[in-house]
Amino acid sequence: MTEPKKLFVKTYGCQMNVYDSERMAEALGASGYVPTDRADDADMILLNTCHIREKAAEKVYSELGRFKPLKAAKPDLKIGVAGCVAQAEGEEIMRRQPMVDLVVGPQTYHRLPEMERAVRAGARAVDTEFPPEDKFAHLPRGPRARRAPAAFLTVQEGCDKFCSFCVVPYTRGAEVSRPAERVLAEARDLVDRGVREITLLGQNVNAYHGAGEDGSEWSLARLIDALAAIDGLARIRFTTSHPNDMRDDLIGAFATQPKLMPYLHLPVQAGSDRILKRMNRKHTAESYIRLIERLRAARPDLLLSGDFIVGFPGETEADFEDTLALVRTVGYGQAYSFKYSPRPGTPAAERADMVDDAVASDRLARLQALLTEQQRAAQAAMVGREASVLFEKPGRMPGQMVGKSEYLQAVHVTAPQIAAGEIARVRIVEAAPNSLAGALV
Ligand code: SAH
Ligand code: SF4
Ligand code: F3S
Repeated sequence: MTEPKKLFVKTYGCQMNVYDSERMAEALGASGYVPTDRADDADMILLNTCHIREKAAEKVYSELGRFKPLKAAKPDLKIGVAGCVAQAEGEEIMRRQPMVDLVVGPQTYHRLPEMERAVRAGARAVDTEFPPEDKFAHLPRGPRARRAPAAFLTVQEGCDKFCSFCVVPYTRGAEVSRPAERVLAEARDLVDRGVREITLLGQNVNAYHGAGEDGSEWSLARLIDALAAIDGLARIRFTTSHPNDMRDDLIGAFATQPKLMPYLHLPVQAGSDRILKRMNRKHTAESYIRLIERLRAARPDLLLSGDFIVGFPGETEADFEDTLALVRTVGYGQAYSFKYSPRPGTPAAERADMVDDAVASDRLARLQALLTEQQRAAQAAMVGREASVLFEKPGRMPGQMVGKSEYLQAVHVTAPQIAAGEIARVRIVEAAPNSLAGALV
């Protein structure tokens, strides 16, 4: 028997890339690859990249540079670049880094096995098409390994929103929903392999409108209800949503579907209508706040998370203060905030009225101070309360298990009798900014 080849995958960017990395590893599993967590041990290295901000994209090149000695020591080592930088830069990557053998975009990785054969034969392979076929339907499946209790499942891809700062519509292509039956089949398979919580993924997941089993178009709420009927699946989440696609049935699901967890990531980006308009967000601060009110009416304990961009071209101090005011009004349990990064090919990158970098940095620090304060308060508010925790893995201390609350907070408990995959009631006794400690009830 020949030794299996080893695959090292490194993932950058969003959860969709995490999901894609799993699927790429599975596809190459069918070509005889087994995963390794050491680059220096690998026969193939695959970087699954992110193009969302300049720093994210540049990381790829510095990482590739670090593989040079590995390639020199092992000429058979193949190096591939996948994901959104691959899509955006294509062959340019091979010009900048001659040691790259393979470049594959997010919509063509079902062709990886053929590409792998080509590069093994000494060719260089580039595929950044947007093919007509559904890659998920054409992905080879490797061995069906047991899975961790919480898994991602992509149900929708691409984006037609064209926010003026964002590369996603260009790197991921047009918005497409997977047929409900395929999503359900994949979910059943995950549950058979030990999964108890599924997070449905999409760049605009709440715009989901897949073909249903009955031929009609299903909304995300309808899909969630069908998934909830799967025995053994205990929890459902979804991310990322756009405020304009948050329809009534989905808001209602937070009240009526017990398996849908009370956590929602709903990016707003900015609190100034003038800036929102320039961002082409097509909603106002006010409409977002009204939406949050309706969501909280459906599910009063909903924990909200968001994304923010500061220093968008033309942002004044008054605009920025509108963002702070919106944050104070909404109250987030968790959030991500970024300094605006001009991306080639996007309309905002053409604007001349860039905000001074020092000013943008200062605003980012002020926003993050406020968001951190809100996150600490949300964590502290858990002390003395009971949470339902899905345990995922052992913690660092002996006998400790770590899991997630219904609000997606990390919780650790000393409970050697608990196994990964179990859900238990926990009384929270201590709060840190990024984790909670508790005891079994
Ligand atoms: N589809 C999701 C977001 C995808 S990108 C949505 O619409 O909410 C994730 C986050 O990165 C965005 O929400 C935004 O806050 C940030 N982001 C995107 N482009 C950016 C840019 N050019 N500069 C800085 N942050 C950016
Ligand atoms: Fe980007 Fe806007 Fe689409 Fe989100 S909705 S992926 S921010 S273009
Ligand atoms: Fe990055 Fe692509 Fe996701 S640009 S955020 S990896 S969709």
